[in-house]
Amino acid sequence: MSRLHLDDAHLSDRPANPSANPHLVEVMSRRALLKGMAAASAVAAGAPVFKIKESLAASTSTLGFAEIPHHMAEGHAVAPGYNVQVLIRWGDKVVADAPPFDPKNITGESQAKQFGFNNDFLAFMPLPVGSNSPDNGLLFVNHENTHQQLIWPGIVEDKVKMELQTKQQIDAEMAMHGLSVVEVKKESGRWNVVESSRYNRRIHTGTGFRITGPAAGHARMKTSADPAGMLAYGTLHNCAGGVTPWGTCLSGEENYQNYFIGDSQKSAEAKNHKRNGVGGAIRNVWGKFHDRFNVEKEPNEPNRFGWVVELDPYDPAAQPIKRTALGRIKHEGAYTVVSRDGRVVVYTGDDAYDEYIYRYVSDGRFNPNDRAANRELLDKGTLSVARFEADGTMRWFPLVHGQGKLTAENGFKDQGDVLIDTRLAADAIGATKMDRPEDIDVSPITGRVYVALTKHPNRKPDQVDGPNPRARNLWGQVVELIPPGEGKEADHTADTFKWELFLAGGDPKKPEQKAKYGAGVEHGYFACPDNFAFDPKGRLWIVTDGQDDAFNVCDSAYACDTTGPGRGVTKLFFNSPRGAEICGPAFTPDGKTLFLAIQHPAEEKGSTIDKPTTRWPDFRADMPPRPSVIAITKADGGEIGS
Ligand code: FEO
Ligand code: CA
Ligand code: CA
Ligand code: CA
Repeated sequence: MSRLHLDDAHLSDRPANPSANPHLVEVMSRRALLKGMAAASAVAAGAPVFKIKESLAASTSTLGFAEIPHHMAEGHAVAPGYNVQVLIRWGDKVVADAPPFDPKNITGESQAKQFGFNNDFLAFMPLPVGSNSPDNGLLFVNHENTHQQLIWPGIVEDKVKMELQTKQQIDAEMAMHGLSVVEVKKESGRWNVVESSRYNRRIHTGTGFRITGPAAGHARMKTSADPAGMLAYGTLHNCAGGVTPWGTCLSGEENYQNYFIGDSQKSAEAKNHKRNGVGGAIRNVWGKFHDRFNVEKEPNEPNRFGWVVELDPYDPAAQPIKRTALGRIKHEGAYTVVSRDGRVVVYTGDDAYDEYIYRYVSDGRFNPNDRAANRELLDKGTLSVARFEADGTMRWFPLVHGQGKLTAENGFKDQGDVLIDTRLAADAIGATKMDRPEDIDVSPITGRVYVALTKHPNRKPDQVDGPNPRARNLWGQVVELIPPGEGKEADHTADTFKWELFLAGGDPKKPEQKAKYGAGVEHGYFACPDNFAFDPKGRLWIVTDGQDDAFNVCDSAYACDTTGPGRGVTKLFFNSPRGAEICGPAFTPDGKTLFLAIQHPAEEKGSTIDKPTTRWPDFRADMPPRPSVIAITKADGGEIGS
């Protein structure tokens, strides 16, 4: 059974990047291309790395767990010796006075107090603030989107939604989106939500966000509800995210274009909306009852989404903020690292076919001694976009008003225009079109930067290049960006990095797929890498979104070393229930708990709330399948992966 939608790109039906920017092959020498592909070619030529006994992976990897095989099943599966606990599910209580979950009576009022739908990014924020507590903390959670056919009876096809959906349903869906903060505590080896915690809160489409940075107050940010252009209501399609060194959480607003009805080409924002897919496929008909989601009535409202948002989870009264200096794209996430000179660097990908990789560098330096002193670091700085060069390096090109083509003559009157139209600015710079950039994480040991490029089935043979080496790429790859310097000495602010193709997904038993792994991969082959986390020892954990289409198996969680003999030897640790993708891997500081977000279980073609393909995690006839966060611990209390 194939999935109802292939991925977020299909979900948004977004147009391909129409800019004339070259695919890298047009600028890359054949020699550099061959260099980047060398290892992949070795596999393609039939080198027998995958025929080596399973014990080779075990002997080269520092990861000690016994792998499990791929599956297609209604339940989950984990490596032997590990426990899986369902921690919190869609509809569970977040705010103290939340009603119990009743799937037959879902309202905006109840959902605004309960755990939202489609949990994606997770962060574990130790309590108290600034500590390394492994057993008590705040779980920060993104609620990306809704799958109406798994919420409301009678909805089987997207195209009938407009006629079918009621205001009660839409108000409930608006409350299912956004963010959750819940206190969690481990006692006697078991995690629980602290239901009475003062930190617990829901942020949803009705929550006010302060807008800061160069686009705050810009004419194109103003709406009839907010004539100052300083206050946006809600956050949409929050995908991945990140944690700042000063203990706040970042969340990426991704496919916001799915939320606007009306003709997007009737206003001065027509070019902007077209480039960002506003007015393409509509997945949510909120505009039927709420004018601001009708782009004909409020043409600037989409400009108030597509940003990175920041929340201080330790302050239950904190107002969330949209940080416009980080650009307006389909942000997957926002990974923050302190560079060697103390400036703060944020890596973020634009998750669509042929879109770009971005980097923000703050003007100011991180102050580890005064949390409040860091509050404006994400408002003043420089956003750049990546271009992979023919000589095997990559360069960051700043998106600064007045520089190069980013001038009034080309439609950029000020820095606010550059940021609202980040994609158009990056087109003008000549950035490299990538295979859907998803999560980006930095190794805490080496300082190398890992980019998940999830797939690109439409890449043509004449468009392949080093970091995007395969046409009709159904499997995705992981590209390593290498800044000058190592570990804490890495210079993440440098103009020029090197890069390597670290992993190329696919089945290594099928040479035509041109997969690339470390030697000895057995069960650990993957497709469609989406999110990453590094464990405290610096091993990379990879979770996927789309293995059902690629291999007809469920999505999985993997781990591999990035250095030493086990470099790139991915091992399969966990399989999701069918129809789900896996998001938000997050470790406690001691590495003894791994939190995973299981998103949209049962989301498969023909699967509805009336007849779902799985009822994970409750397996009760009166309960629907429920997106949930799980906590994985080792039965002997040891570190995950040991
Ligand atoms: Fe929401 Fe890029 O996955
Ligand atoms: Ca994602
Ligand atoms: Ca991550
Ligand atoms: Ca995803």
